[in-house]
Amino acid sequence: MTQREQRKDDHIRLALNHPESPSSFDQIHLVHRSIPSIKQTDISLHTHISSLSFEHPIYINAMTGGSKWAGEINHKLAIVSRETNIPMAVGSMHAALKNPALIPTYQVIREVNPNGIVFANIGADVPLDFAQRAIDMIQADALQIHLNAPQEVVMPEGGRDFADWLSNIEAVVRTSEVPVIIKEVGFGMSSETLAQLKAIGVKAADISGRGGTNFVYIENERRPGKDQSYLNDWGQTTPVSLMESMPFQHEMDILSSGGIRTPLDAIKSFVLGAKAAGLSRTVLNELELKGVEPTIKMIERFKAHLTDIALILGAKDMTALREVPYVLSPELESWQRQRKQRGRNL
Ligand SMILES: Cc1cc2nc3c(=O)[nH]c(=O)nc-3n(C[C@H](O)[C@H](O)[C@H](O)COP(=O)(O)O)c2cc1C
Repeated sequence: MTQREQRKDDHIRLALNHPESPSSFDQIHLVHRSIPSIKQTDISLHTHISSLSFEHPIYINAMTGGSKWAGEINHKLAIVSRETNIPMAVGSMHAALKNPALIPTYQVIREVNPNGIVFANIGADVPLDFAQRAIDMIQADALQIHLNAPQEVVMPEGGRDFADWLSNIEAVVRTSEVPVIIKEVGFGMSSETLAQLKAIGVKAADISGRGGTNFVYIENERRPGKDQSYLNDWGQTTPVSLMESMPFQHEMDILSSGGIRTPLDAIKSFVLGAKAAGLSRTVLNELELKGVEPTIKMIERFKAHLTDIALILGAKDMTALREVPYVLSPELESWQRQRKQRGRNL
């Protein structure tokens, strides 16, 4: 097994044994209205990301591919994605781009789900031709490019050269025929980052914030002495990242991920302006601990509960959800105030 294959298996194993932190979505309170004035059959949470149309506003976010175990997980995730009609992303495809023997561990998702919406995934450090090869490998409907600088720094074998990330992304965005989604991996995004992305023509960003899977924690577990554990709280939570994204939401499709555990977390994301919510570890845990059928049931329940909550809120669609009034915790309000005072218009 190569170092890269071993790393993927380490990540899956550590994600499955990951401690839970308190949900940062508890810092947002939706205002209850006693007269919702709609009925359940009025509700459709259909959504759009760039040119793609999602029947349901949730997706399985990037995780695996690149080892035997990862390939088996992708196979099962693809069944879940097909049966529940939600999009899914594969994990970073660098492994297969460098070693063709690993291509089947990604292609399996297209074989299992020929008509589903699938996202390819690469890092921002790769050459331009990798992007097209990744898309072609699984006939992807969109390409995710992940940003993971803190993970690279804490990863024992991680990279240290981020100088070309922005220009690499720009080159892909200019030439890609499918929508490009720039995504974090659990450290969140700031308005400064989104301004950089907007300036190079990015139209979709997954702010993947802190509060769920924590790659500083995971890489520290792989690191002798875990000597960078003091960085465990690095980054912006998902709600903070969504607030940071507000000035960009009319020109960029914002996706929410990072610690989405319940349908209420997803609804709060939509109220804060996200067009869809991505789940990684919540799905991985169910899949590996319980199996494919229970995971399908969990997602069906998740979708039904999204509708239940939209009903209580009197919101018949994603646009109406954005109008739902909310109150921020003192901590979030303080973040917003301080960022405004320092010139960021959140
Ligand atoms: C086991 C595992 C592997 C992951 N691998 C990737 C990856 O290869 N590429 C990527 O963009 N994100 C990767 N992620 C990050 C997720 O896509 C997501 O941004 C992050 O886990 C936060 O979501 P969560 O809290 O729902 O897990 C991975 C997550 C997990 C749990």
